[in-house]
Order: sequence, then C-alpha cells, then structure tokens
Amino acid sequence: MKILITAGPTREAIDMVRFITNRSSGKMGYALARAAKDNGWDTVLISGPVNLPPPEGVDCIMVESAKDMATAVKKEAPAADVIIMAAAVADYRPKAVFDGKLKKQEGGLFLELERTEDILLYLGEHKRPGQTLVGFAAEATEVEANAVGKLRKKNLDWIAANDIGAAGCGFAVNTNQVTLYSATGDRIILPLADKFTVANNILDIIVKGKR
Ligand code: CTP
Repeated sequence: MKILITAGPTREAIDMVRFITNRSSGKMGYALARAAKDNGWDTVLISGPVNLPPPEGVDCIMVESAKDMATAVKKEAPAADVIIMAAAVADYRPKAVFDGKLKKQEGGLFLELERTEDILLYLGEHKRPGQTLVGFAAEATEVEANAVGKLRKKNLDWIAANDIGAAGCGFAVNTNQVTLYSATGDRIILPLADKFTVANNILDIIVKGKR
C-alpha cells in the first residue's frame, strides 16, 4: 500500500523577499502521514513550508509554491494507491514576480493575481482504476453543499470537510472535527478529537473500510 499525502500552505512570491500564503499549519497532513506510517504503509509526504519536524520513516518532499507542489504531486501520484490532498494550496499567485526587491512609492499598490493549477482537479481527471482520491474542504459557510460540490467536480472518492468557524476546528489548533462524504453517498460525522486521532479515524474509513 502506497499512500501520498500533501500538507501545509504554499507560498506565492511577490518579489525576492515577500510572498502570499495562508494560515495552514500542516498539522492535519503531518498527522495523517504519521498515522499512515504507523499502519505500515509506504508513505510519501509532500509539504509546503511549515514549522513541524518531518515524521519519522516518511519520505518527505519539501516544496514552496503551488507550481512546485503540482510538479512533485504529478511525479508521485501514478504510483500511489491512495492520495490525500490535505495541503492548503494557494488558489492565486502574483501574475508577475518582481525581479529583486519592490521599492515602496507614494500611493497604493495594485497586485495582479492569476489562478494556480487545481492539483486535485488534475488528479481526479487522471485517476487510475483502484486509486482512492481524497480532498479536504475548509468551509466557512454551507459546509455540506460546498464539500459535496467539490467531491463531484474533482471526481473524488472522499472529501473531509470541516467548518473553520466551529469551536476546536481551524488552522493553528491541535484538534479538528471532520465530516467525511463519499462519492457513493456516505456521510460520516467524526468526533472532535486531536488531529492524530482524527487522522487515524479518516484512514480507518477510507483505507480499511471500517465504520
Ligand atoms: N487544491 C488543489 N489545488 C489547488 C487548490 C486546492 O489541489 N490549487 C485542493 C486542496 O488540497 C483541497 C481541495 O483542493 O484538498 C480544496 O478545494 P478548493 O476548491 O480549492 O477549496 P478552496 O481553496 O477553499 O477554494 P474555494 O472554496 O474558494 O473553492
């Protein structure tokens, strides 16, 4: 069993010293990698910049931008039986990266952004038979409708949704409350727990088929 997990935020450069990023800590993805390794599976973790030690025994690939992550994921994906995209990949990046350091001037600054590639959408379009594809949906409103919409649009087998406004959920905290939705109509509400317990619960359901 080979499992590929992504984690953390990406950084999208504005110039040599500045970038756009998000609040992802990488904790959920790292917990999944640790839990997968503990199950004895061949585990590859592709991670954006985080302040976490690499999980022992896991093959870690560190990346910075959404583009780097897409390149690394596309290389590793064909060999994976299970792919879990827990990374908070930036949806936009600056259209042009300023060469050197941008100097401030009078008045405001207009930064033009362009879309990054949706890696999970690509994986859904290139999913091979027998491969299990799992996404994450961090939602602030209409959690179920948005999560199930993403599940269908990206051709996923499962999506792990969480309400980022709910107590004990969100980016920097050590706990999470996830609801799993499957392509075949399952809706499984997991209990609020520390991220390692949540990771084990997710793997029990999506890989081992335990309910
Ligand atoms: N994802 C990805 N590539 C991107 C953006 C997101 O692979 N460029 C993946 C994430 O890893 C996650 C899922 O897609 O598994 C999140 O879905 P997405 O539709 O991107 O959600 P948001 O980024 O929150 O965007 P929005 O709700 O505005 O659609």
